[in-house]
Amino acid sequence: MGGYLYKNILMIKIENFSFKYKGNDKFALHNINLDIENGAFLGLSGVSGSGKTSLLYACCGVIPHFYKGDFYGSVTLAGKDTVETPISELSKIAAIVFEDVDSSFACTYPEDEIVFGLRNFGKSKQEAEENAAEIMSLFEISDLRGKLIRSLSGGQKRKVALAAAIAVKPQVLLLDEPSGELDPEAKIQVFELLKKLNEDGLTIIVSERNDKLLHEYAARQYILKTAEISE
Ligand SMILES: Nc1ncnc2c1ncn2[C@@H]1O[C@H](COP(=O)(O)OP(=O)(O)OP(=O)(O)O)[C@@H](O)[C@H]1O
Ligand SMILES: [Mg+2]
Repeated sequence: MGGYLYKNILMIKIENFSFKYKGNDKFALHNINLDIENGAFLGLSGVSGSGKTSLLYACCGVIPHFYKGDFYGSVTLAGKDTVETPISELSKIAAIVFEDVDSSFACTYPEDEIVFGLRNFGKSKQEAEENAAEIMSLFEISDLRGKLIRSLSGGQKRKVALAAAIAVKPQVLLLDEPSGELDPEAKIQVFELLKKLNEDGLTIIVSERNDKLLHEYAARQYILKTAEISE
């Protein structure tokens, strides 16, 4: 990934950003200003409903491309305005691992899930298979080959989802509550993996309820306050 060269250059810039989901008269996020540097490891915290998931969606363009609503201010990802830039282009820069990994899987087997993402990014079958094998080895999940995704443990599933997200070599990785439902050991494993990826230059933004984990791993924390304003 070699991101060190660009360290301290802004990866995401959020200016006077507010968002209201269509059909909801309350702001999900209100007047957010946040600069996220390349190479950052940022933790998002805040009570339920404070907008952690929505902020992750806004960083990668899921808001406003998939979730419509009233969008104020601006969000830029690697200098690209997320409203103006097609999601196909934004998804090459930022990858997101959704909170509910189960519903995000497209394939039956782990190796196919990783290959699937790479093929979507235009890799040949052979190249995709080679890259998938490399990433599975890096994540120490090569032994999951041929096992049904639905038969895996929560921690294993999360690693497969992470591997599939990382395989396409994004510059930013967004994770929504990656430690949820995992046992203490699997939580640590996931965060150790994130630490390693971050040390390789990947920008990481993670929403997490477990303050202890955030405190230990994230270099910086952003605490969301519930938006009280509605109109
Ligand atoms: N699809 C949606 N349509 C309408 N309103 C939504 C939608 N998703 C979220 N909201 C609203 O936006 C606000 C922020 O929600 P969000 O899910 O981003 O918070 P969160 O901090 O991730 O919460 P949690 O900790 O429960 O995951 C809430 O008031 C929520 O009701
Ligand atoms: Mg959430």
